[in-house]
Amino acid sequence: MQMNDPQRYLITAALPYANGPVHIGHLAGCYLPADIYTRYLRARKRDVLFIGGSDEHGVPITIRALKEGITPQQVVDKFHFLIKESMEQMGISFDIYSRTSNKVHHETASAFFKKMYDDGLFEEKETEQYYDETTKTFLADRYIIGTCPVCANPNAYGDQCEKCGSTLSPEQLINPRSALSDAVPVKKKTKHWYFPLQDYEAWLKEWIIDGHKEWKNNVYGQCKSWLDNGLQSRAMTRDSNWGIKVPLPDAEGKVLYVWFDAPIGYISATKELTAQWADYWCKESTKLVHFIGKDNIVFHCIIFPAMLKAHGGFILPDNVPANEFLNIEGDKVSTSRNWAVWVHEYIKDFPGCEDVLRYVLCANAPETKDNDFTWKDFQDRNNSELVSIFGNFVNRTWVLMHKLCGGKVPKLHENILDEKDRALIEEIQNSKSKIQNLLEEYKFRDALFEVIDLSRKGNKYMQEKEPWIVARKTGDNGKLTAEAQALVDNCLHLCLQLTANLTILINPFLPNTAKQMLGMMKVVDKMLDWSNAGSIKLLSVGYNLREPQLLFRKIEDEEISAQVEKLKKGLIKSTTTMEDPKPPAENTSAVNKPEIQFDDFTKLDLKVGTILTAVKVEKADKLLKLEVDLGFEKRTIVSGIALHFKPEDIVGKQVVVVANLAPRKMKGIESQGMILTAEDKAGKLYFISPDTMIDAGSGIS
Ligand code: MF3
Ligand code: ZN
Repeated sequence: MQMNDPQRYLITAALPYANGPVHIGHLAGCYLPADIYTRYLRARKRDVLFIGGSDEHGVPITIRALKEGITPQQVVDKFHFLIKESMEQMGISFDIYSRTSNKVHHETASAFFKKMYDDGLFEEKETEQYYDETTKTFLADRYIIGTCPVCANPNAYGDQCEKCGSTLSPEQLINPRSALSDAVPVKKKTKHWYFPLQDYEAWLKEWIIDGHKEWKNNVYGQCKSWLDNGLQSRAMTRDSNWGIKVPLPDAEGKVLYVWFDAPIGYISATKELTAQWADYWCKESTKLVHFIGKDNIVFHCIIFPAMLKAHGGFILPDNVPANEFLNIEGDKVSTSRNWAVWVHEYIKDFPGCEDVLRYVLCANAPETKDNDFTWKDFQDRNNSELVSIFGNFVNRTWVLMHKLCGGKVPKLHENILDEKDRALIEEIQNSKSKIQNLLEEYKFRDALFEVIDLSRKGNKYMQEKEPWIVARKTGDNGKLTAEAQALVDNCLHLCLQLTANLTILINPFLPNTAKQMLGMMKVVDKMLDWSNAGSIKLLSVGYNLREPQLLFRKIEDEEISAQVEKLKKGLIKSTTTMEDPKPPAENTSAVNKPEIQFDDFTKLDLKVGTILTAVKVEKADKLLKLEVDLGFEKRTIVSGIALHFKPEDIVGKQVVVVANLAPRKMKGIESQGMILTAEDKAGKLYFISPDTMIDAGSGIS
């Protein structure tokens, strides 16, 4: 049953893994709806906290670290800040955006586990698990790769085949191998702490199946099917050295399972934010709502609530309005194939258009089924809804008010209100509760459409009233008749009051646009209070208003084709970088190769060389043939730098040469060494040279 009239709200949005940037699917899935809901509650002056943060533990992070040859901490540091910034720029208005690698969280999660342990709520079990003897690590399901028994995909993971979508266990894989070393894994005994979910089954059934029939169909349905299938004990610990150490003796090399610690992150972040955190987490008068994507349903509806119940003292979620997935141009988002629209890139490519993305993602939100994002639809929605309907209405109102009413809010002549005026007033008054009810039911798309529809009605009203024609009715004196002026006044008065209403109603969805509209009306934020919606007395008669400003700009075909092009290129780039041993340019500033010993380093014979001659190599665009003085001898070196340096510019320059590199032939020329260059983010090359001219052949160490 839905909770009525809570005293406070606690809103959470899934903590994204800090192993990559956020893409628009993340926004559409949970951050945007959570933000809209929170902004709406704030406008209603509710006591609300909006909690977020990065999920910094778990296998995806260790895998990324491994791939890039850096530490997990370096991975999460890089992405936590990038994600946080993208969220801010998109107006996702968290009260706190924390991270699970911090101290408060480690302590909170640890204590949570310890209490459950002390209360005897775990089963201790020894099982055999796959172990990689070459790297001396137990392999979490994701670390085991093998052939899918269902579709024969040779690269299925131990928990899932991404090709056919089957859920798997490592035992089902044919020819399993370690993702770390390619070695054939062996079985080895290991001890873990299991949470007997089956003990909570009856309670969960009562709570969800009987108690929360109002949950969204997709959520309720998934829960029901899990519960119908029967629950089993689940290991709440893992063998790993990245994560929260299991707070027990004899638990060396064991950490809490990431899905145990991550949702506790909501609690830790609240603790970090306010000393009153327990009011939010422990009082039944709080309404807790988890916004998530559909892949998180079981964790937020079954496992975490069972943990909260088992631990005791915490409230449970009132609702978990999970969204389905957003595809892109007809294809599933895939970060490994780089098939994604990255939020930080969008912000760079469309500066000042954050609200447009919010609009399109909400209008297209995958609320009940997977949906598709296409750039064409993005353009259409911007041009034909934001520009032509909403923006157009506001702009026309403003222009006409300046032209026909002297830039002031005109009077409302109540005695001459006609049916059309009354109908519009009624629309304004009714829209508030319509939109509010939809928001309360987490139907953000429909709520947004109502707002746009209200502006559409404004346009229609204006079109029918034609104040620009009425304003031609002049009397004998050549002046506008008082009667005509009164009609013009009424039309614009109502259009202005409607605009003020639109500002309030659009605010949760498009906060920047609402700000801009406040500016045009010269009113303060206070007007955005939800309680003001529905009123037609928001702007006072005679009040001077500013000049119109365009709220939205048209988006051109070229901008759209450039984005489609970029998507496709990204796809190509990602496949080539996979085969290309050179790390992608974005990684050049991070350590991205495995650790080496000092002896490995000293094997390199690095010397300063002076370039004596440089010529292009025939039939090879990228190659220059250099003659380099190494002091004791001259070397011929073929170098792939022709696109970056002109031969005549580099003669006489000093460079660093790997002098003991085995010679190799390039385009028939034997290259006797290699010169080192640095590459910036844009892919431009630079020589590395001593900061002053020194003897050729000087050693480098
Ligand atoms: N990091 C998870 C994901 O991206 C979500 C964690 S939500 C939390 O799928 F509740 F565990 F924090
Ligand atoms: Zn498969």
